Amino acid sequence: MEKTNSSLKGRSFLAEIDFKEEELLYLLDLAADLKDKKKNGIPHRYLEGKNIALLFEKTSTRTRCAFTVACTDLGAHPEYLGKGDIQLGKKESVEDTAKVLGRMFDGIEFRGFAHKTVESLAEHSGVPVWNGLTDMWHPTQTLADLLTIQEHIGHLRNVKLVYVGDGRNNVANSLLVGGSIVGMDVRICAPKSLWPAQEVIYLAKKCSDQVMVTSSIEEAVAGADVIYTDVWVSMGEEDKFAERIELLSPYQVNMQMIKETGNKDVIFLHCLPAFHDLETTYGKETYEKHGLREMEVTDEVFRSKHSKVFDQAENRMHTIKAVLAATLGNME
Ligand code: CP
Ligand code: NVA
Repeated sequence: MEKTNSSLKGRSFLAEIDFKEEELLYLLDLAADLKDKKKNGIPHRYLEGKNIALLFEKTSTRTRCAFTVACTDLGAHPEYLGKGDIQLGKKESVEDTAKVLGRMFDGIEFRGFAHKTVESLAEHSGVPVWNGLTDMWHPTQTLADLLTIQEHIGHLRNVKLVYVGDGRNNVANSLLVGGSIVGMDVRICAPKSLWPAQEVIYLAKKCSDQVMVTSSIEEAVAGADVIYTDVWVSMGEEDKFAERIELLSPYQVNMQMIKETGNKDVIFLHCLPAFHDLETTYGKETYEKHGLREMEVTDEVFRSKHSKVFDQAENRMHTIKAVLAATLGNME
C-alpha cells in the first residue's frame, strides 16, 4: 500500500465534501493498515512528540476515547479541554482562541454546536483541525461507517445504504454526502419535515446520480445492503422528544423493516449511543411519558446477527488515527 498521500499533509478534516474519493479511500486503506498494526503489536508512532488539543462543547464517549487512544498510540500527547475549562466564545473570541492554541498545539479536534466554530478554528489556528461533530456534519463517523461496510460487504461502490429516521441531522448529512462521494447508493428515508436541507442534497447530487430522499419505507428499504439509524433527538435538541416520537415512530428499525429489505445478509449500523431498551435515563423518561420501550431501533435488531454497531464503534479509533497520521504524521 502507498504509505503517504501528500495531498492530505497539513489539511483539516471538517466535512467530507472537501475530500476527493481517492483521498477518502486512501484514509480507509490507511485505517485498515493501522488496525492491523495495532492488532499485531507493531508500533506506529507517526506523531511522536506532537501535542493535540481535544475541545469538547458537547459530551462524547466514542469520539473522545477514539482521539485519546489514537493520539497515544501515535506517540502524541492529547489534552482534553471540556466545556467550562477554557474561555472559548465566552471570554475570548474563537479567532483569538484559535491563534493561541495554534501557538502551542500541533493539531486541534473540536466537537460542538455551530459548524462555523470549527471552520474559524481551522482558518485562524494555522494547524490541522478535525471535526469531532458539529450540528451540520460528523465526518469522522462516516469514515468509521465506510470502513465497517467495507469489512462486512467487501466494497463500497453501489452499496445500497438506507438511513432511516431524522434525515437532517449531522450523521445523515455526512452519510449522504460522504457515501455519494465514494459511489454508494445512499437513500434517506424520513418524514418530509425531516428531509435534509436542499444545500446538502445538492452537494450529494453533485457527486452521485443515485441519491434518493423519500418518506416511503417500502420504496427505500427494498434491496438494502445497510440499514442505518441514529437518535431521533440530537444533542442540543432535547426539548423535541415529544414531537420526534410522534413523527418518527413509524420509522423505527425493527425486524419487520429488516425483512422488508429482502436481503438476509443486510447489516444494521448506528453511530451510537442508541435508545434500544430502558437502561438509560432518557429511555426510562420516554417510557414513563410516552409508553415507548425502544426508540429508533428495537432491542431485537440491536442485538441481532445483522447488527455491526460495536465493530463500527471500534473503527472510530482506527479511522481517526488514520486522519491524524495522514494530516500531521511523519510517515516517510
Ligand atoms: N458516535 C459518536 O460520535 O459517539 P460519541 O457521541 O460517544 O462520541
Ligand atoms: N446525531 C447525534 C449523533 C451523536 C453521535 C447527535 O448529534 O447527538
